[in-house]
Amino acid sequence: MSKHPMNVLAVCLGNICRSPMAEGLLRHHIQQRGLRCRVDSAGTSAHHAGEHPDRRAQQEMRRHGIDISKQTSRQLVRKDFERFDWILVMDRSNLANAQELAGHNEGHLAKIKLFVPDAEVPDPYYGGAEGFSQVYDMVDAAAERWVATWQSDI
Ligand code: 4NP
Repeated sequence: MSKHPMNVLAVCLGNICRSPMAEGLLRHHIQQRGLRCRVDSAGTSAHHAGEHPDRRAQQEMRRHGIDISKQTSRQLVRKDFERFDWILVMDRSNLANAQELAGHNEGHLAKIKLFVPDAEVPDPYYGGAEGFSQVYDMVDAAAERWVATWQSDI
């Protein structure tokens, strides 16, 4: 699975809150380590396609010095399973939806993992700012660990 360079896709439901933050944090940690990886994000739903990240997600990231304002939401498509080495999902509902799209392709199914191993990143959309701060902390720690793993693979 350790292709060179690494191609990674973060996935949530709307691609306007959690996975854009994950994309920004993966880029940040990749840059910190001087790695060359392709990073993108997508949503299992097309509901917010074409939109920039939720203002609250942008604010939380800006608070930490990371600009995600230029990202735009898009839907996860079957071809992503060919283009990316890892499909990292935020919760078990994303997992089920991504697995359904992958169908019976064992190679594609093997690429899908929870972004935070053995935990779900809670959907912050209907909550307040503290939900985004919690997402930041969980995703930041996990992104750092993923990037460290890839650095030892590459
Ligand atoms: P995300 O959050 O999956 O982290 O981008 C959500 C964004 C929008 C909706 C749900 C979750 N929505 O229902 O519109």
